[in-house]
Amino acid sequence: MTDVAQRISALRQELDAHNYRYYVLDEPSVPDAEYDRLFRELQALEAEHPELVTPDSPTQRVGGEALGAFGEVRHEVPMLSLGNAFEEDDLHAFDRSVQSGLGLAGGDLFGGGAEVEYSCEPKLDGLAVSLLYENGQLVRGATRGDGSTGEDISSNVRTIRNVPLKLQGEGWPQVLEVRGEVFMPKAGFEELNARQAETGGKTFANPRNAAAGSLRQLDPKITASRPLEFCCYGVGQVSGELPGTQVAMLQQLKAWGIPISRELKLARGVQDCLAYYRDIGERRMSLAYDIDGVVFKVNNIEDQQQLGFRARTPHWAIAHKFPAQEELTELLDVEFQVGRTGAVTPVARLKPVKVAGVMVANATLHNMDEVARLGVMIGDTVIIRRAGDVIPQVMAVVPERRPDDARPVHIPEQCPVCGSAVERTQLIKRSKGKESVSEGSVYRCVGRLSCQAQLKQAIIHFVSRRAMDIDGLGDKTIEQLVDEKLIASPADLYQLTFEQIIGLEGFAEVSSNKLLAAIEASKRPTLARFIYALGIPDVGEETAKVLARSLASLARVRQALPEVLTYLPDIGLEVAHEIHSFFEDAHNQQVIDALLGACGLQLQEEGELSAEFSAVATLGGMLDKLNIPSVGPGATQKLAERFGSLEAVLGGDWLDMRQTLPERQAKAVREFFDGEGNAQRARAIEQQLRDFGMHWESEKKVVEGLPLAGQTWVLTGALTVNRDVAKDKLEGLGAKVAGSVSAKTHCVVAGPGAGSKLAKASELGIQVLDEAQFRSFLRDKHQIELD
Ligand code: IVH
Repeated sequence: MTDVAQRISALRQELDAHNYRYYVLDEPSVPDAEYDRLFRELQALEAEHPELVTPDSPTQRVGGEALGAFGEVRHEVPMLSLGNAFEEDDLHAFDRSVQSGLGLAGGDLFGGGAEVEYSCEPKLDGLAVSLLYENGQLVRGATRGDGSTGEDISSNVRTIRNVPLKLQGEGWPQVLEVRGEVFMPKAGFEELNARQAETGGKTFANPRNAAAGSLRQLDPKITASRPLEFCCYGVGQVSGELPGTQVAMLQQLKAWGIPISRELKLARGVQDCLAYYRDIGERRMSLAYDIDGVVFKVNNIEDQQQLGFRARTPHWAIAHKFPAQEELTELLDVEFQVGRTGAVTPVARLKPVKVAGVMVANATLHNMDEVARLGVMIGDTVIIRRAGDVIPQVMAVVPERRPDDARPVHIPEQCPVCGSAVERTQLIKRSKGKESVSEGSVYRCVGRLSCQAQLKQAIIHFVSRRAMDIDGLGDKTIEQLVDEKLIASPADLYQLTFEQIIGLEGFAEVSSNKLLAAIEASKRPTLARFIYALGIPDVGEETAKVLARSLASLARVRQALPEVLTYLPDIGLEVAHEIHSFFEDAHNQQVIDALLGACGLQLQEEGELSAEFSAVATLGGMLDKLNIPSVGPGATQKLAERFGSLEAVLGGDWLDMRQTLPERQAKAVREFFDGEGNAQRARAIEQQLRDFGMHWESEKKVVEGLPLAGQTWVLTGALTVNRDVAKDKLEGLGAKVAGSVSAKTHCVVAGPGAGSKLAKASELGIQVLDEAQFRSFLRDKHQIELD
């Protein structure tokens, strides 16, 4: 062997060993950076010596050529399914039939009977897959298909990180077919859906669908980009001997590098099995992946063979399912609710049905696009799903059960509460220098605060704890105040008299005085709280804080042009337009003026403009914000470099511009500024940036002065808080949120089920917070609540 071939082989061995420790043993052995270094060295050597590339090299997971269609694979040993147990009694019946099948003394009158050993495994909710190894090399991957014939998905399974391309150790049979489930962990699913939503791709209803959609891709590069995992639970065709029990066999496969469940346990007798079922059931929500039950298998393989099969299911195994989380019921009607910002949303009224132990009579339909996607009609039989505490959802329609008199769902033309017009929202998008407006999925009642529904919600929001924090004003009281026309805007709260309050239901002298005092005490809010309390569509607490921190005065926030707002962190063009039009609205202006005038509110404004804002403007960047058709950021940068100031650009001749830009773009710039109002708009933006203290010529630099600036955080394991929310909060404080732990990581937030990242953090001595500690860190140090 040449030196290069030797080095390549040594690198592969080392990388395989690290992969094994990482994915199978869950005990990472080297920092990511070291792994990456070895990987890049191997990639470079293989690029120089393509003749030395082998299919089992760790570099060969990226996904090969796309296929036109999947080939067929016949399963030598059929891929079976499992019988189900739903109740304890079903499990006892299964155990009795096992005992009698094995000729053991079954349970007698005294409750005795032998105790059969069962292997216990979680029932992963994914897709069954077969992986064929010949002489230790992965040669084929296949779906289950109908059990006898599946599809050849070899190129796709090769991209799954924890599927070994080559077996470890020694002694494996020449032919070894392992079987297991390919699934998508919950966190990966959330991230994938967020990514898909951002890029306008298809989002998936649940991790199972996402796993199925990702595995059945003709282009393996797509599969490679999806966070899939494999977990082995059995074998098919095997050319030699394997250990004689299910548990020992899986342990042996693990030693050869095949990932198996960390929850694998041995139970003696049915009581042990039930304890396992209850234990996993309790931990189900905090597992990193979805399961729909557990699987019990007679542990002794000879006993399995003796028990044999019934049609498509074995006599020696059973799936003990968790109570159904999906049920069928009838859609009685669709009603429309009006939210705080006027969004008119469809709500399904259902014939009540018990789903996983809870009666469900209403379910969300999200918006009219969702109604169209589901193709749902009133009268339909629908599938309802309830997951944990989440609001029940309509998952699908059963078309065969549609009655003849089913009625379509229409968005009302008038608001069901105030009768104002209902309009479809518009989406403003920008790409390649072009701004385009398209129809949004949300409909809004245009009545704003003249709509009682919006008014009530707006006031409930205004007084809420994280907004103006007026204690003692419950939802019911607010409804009464609005219904009795005592208030018609948040400003009216500050004009309420003792007599008016004591006249309300549930108020006496002490409570009335208390409420008046709470209203009085709310008159000095911080700027951020006040902006949040206004209830501007799409402006949550975080955005309110960004506005307050960056612009530091309400006057500036009120005047800010949309283009200027987009300079702020995390404010896109759409939100910027929402903010701008909120403050342009005459009624809103009146209410704000009243709050600051007659009502006597005094905002605790932040004073100085923050460095974060004033450091980010460049002429090129500003020209880019103008969205000159066919002129992108590269071109505006060149213009800025050539002309140096806005006035010079505005006065520039296109021939002059052609010195730096192609003719077509030079003409486009000239035409744009000759167009109505555009030069003026540009001047107004520039002027406002200057008024707001922008350090004009400075280049964009890192955000300094934020509390977590320069820190890298990692989130891992199952967290009850939505990861995107946690990430946003950390980023808002200036931190970076990374996907893997390295020596540079500042802190790891680890939920239950955290594996290798947590291990690595402890190895490197990095600070680890559990979710409760993380929440109190954000709350106590930075006044941030996660929910
Ligand atoms: S054993 C003959 N074990 O459940 C035994 N299946 O309902 C056949 N599954 O097609 C399968 N976790 O996709 C087995 N630990 C586990 C499993 C499991 C999930 C799936 C598998 C199978 C289906 C049967």
